[in-house]
Amino acid sequence: MRVLGIETTCDETAVAVVANRLGGGGEILSNEVMSQIAQHAAYGGVVPEIAARAHIDVLDRLITRALEHAKVGVGDLDAVAASAGPGLIGGILIGLTAGKAMALALGKPFVAVNHLEAHALTARLTDHLDFPYVALLVSGGHTQIVAVDGVGKYRRLGSTVDDAAGEAFDKVAKMLGLAYPGGPEIERLANEGDPRRFDFPRPMLGRAGADFSLSGLKTAVRQEILRMGPLSETDVKDLAASFQAAIVDVVVDRVRSGLWIFSETFGRPTGLVIGGGVGANGAIRRALTRLCGESGLRFVSPPPELCSDNGAIVAWAGLERHALGLHDDLSAAARPRWPLDAIASETHHGKA
Ligand code: KG4
Ligand code: ZN
Repeated sequence: MRVLGIETTCDETAVAVVANRLGGGGEILSNEVMSQIAQHAAYGGVVPEIAARAHIDVLDRLITRALEHAKVGVGDLDAVAASAGPGLIGGILIGLTAGKAMALALGKPFVAVNHLEAHALTARLTDHLDFPYVALLVSGGHTQIVAVDGVGKYRRLGSTVDDAAGEAFDKVAKMLGLAYPGGPEIERLANEGDPRRFDFPRPMLGRAGADFSLSGLKTAVRQEILRMGPLSETDVKDLAASFQAAIVDVVVDRVRSGLWIFSETFGRPTGLVIGGGVGANGAIRRALTRLCGESGLRFVSPPPELCSDNGAIVAWAGLERHALGLHDDLSAAARPRWPLDAIASETHHGKA
C-alpha cells in the first residue's frame, strides 16, 4: 500500500509518500518539509494568518515533489491522508481541502488524520512496535501522556494544565533573548551551562496522576532574570541549563507516574515512545532512556526529523487507518481542537 500524507496544522508545510513493508513497519518513499520558521521568527511565535498564506504558496509544489521523489504516480496511491486537526484552523483547511480534492479527483479513499494520532503511531512506522504502548507527546502546542492500545484506541493518562513543554522552552528562550524556536537554542546553551546553579521549582513532582504544569517554572525563571539584572553569557548558559534540568526532572517523574497508571489498566507496555518537536531534546531522550533502562522497558525515540511535524507520520497514520477500512467522507471537518480520546469513542462507534 502507498499513501500520500499532507500536514499543515502549524508552521510546517509537509507532504510525504509512505508504503507498508511486508511483515510490518513502513518505508518512507519521500518526505518533503518546508518550514516557515523564518517567516514567523520576527514575531517570536507562529502567526496564524502568515502560516495559512505560506501553506497555500508551497503546498502544490510540495505535493508534486513528494510524488517525484517517491517515484510514484498519483495512480499508484492507495489513499490520500491529511491532518484535520488539532491546530490552526486556517492551515488545517488548506491541507485538508487539498487532500480531499486529490482523493476526489483520483477516486481514492480519503483519511482525515488526527495530528496527535500521527505522532502517537510513528513508532510503528519506524520500529514496528506492537500495541499497547505509552506515548509521550511533547510539542509547542501539546504535552500529554497517552496509552496507545490500538489504531483509534487512545486514552490520555495525563496532560498539561497550563503551558506545553515547547511553549515553556520558547517563552524562556525569549526571556533570555534567544531566537525562535527556543528549544534547540536552550539545549545548545544548556550543554555549556551549570544545571545546578539555579534551583528552579519542579511543579507536580511526586503528585498522583500524570498531569503536567509548567507555567510556575517559567515564572520562576522570569523572576530570577529580573532579580539578576543584565545577564552575562555564563548567566544565560546557566539559566538555560538549570531550566532544562527542571523540565527533564518533571518529564521523567510524570512519565514514571504515567507508566504506573498504564500498567494498572493495560498491563506491561511494549515500550515508551516519544513524539513532538521537544522529543528532539537530547537531555530528555537520555533521561527517558535511563528511566526505561531501570525497568527493562523498550524506549523508542524516532529520529528528530520524524518527531517534529512532517508528512510521513500523517501518511503512516492514514495507511494504518486505510488498512482497517477506516475512511472519511469528503465532509470531514477541520477540527482546531480534537483530543485524542475523542477518536477512541468515534472509532468504537464505527463512525470514523
Ligand atoms: O512538534 P513541533 O515541530 O511543532 C508543534 O508545536 O506542533 O514542535 C515545535 C516545538 C517548539 O516549541 C520548539 O522549541 C520545540 O518543539 N523544540 C525543542 C527542541 N527542538 C524543538 N525543545 C527542546 N529541545 C529541542 N532540541
Ligand atoms: Zn506535532
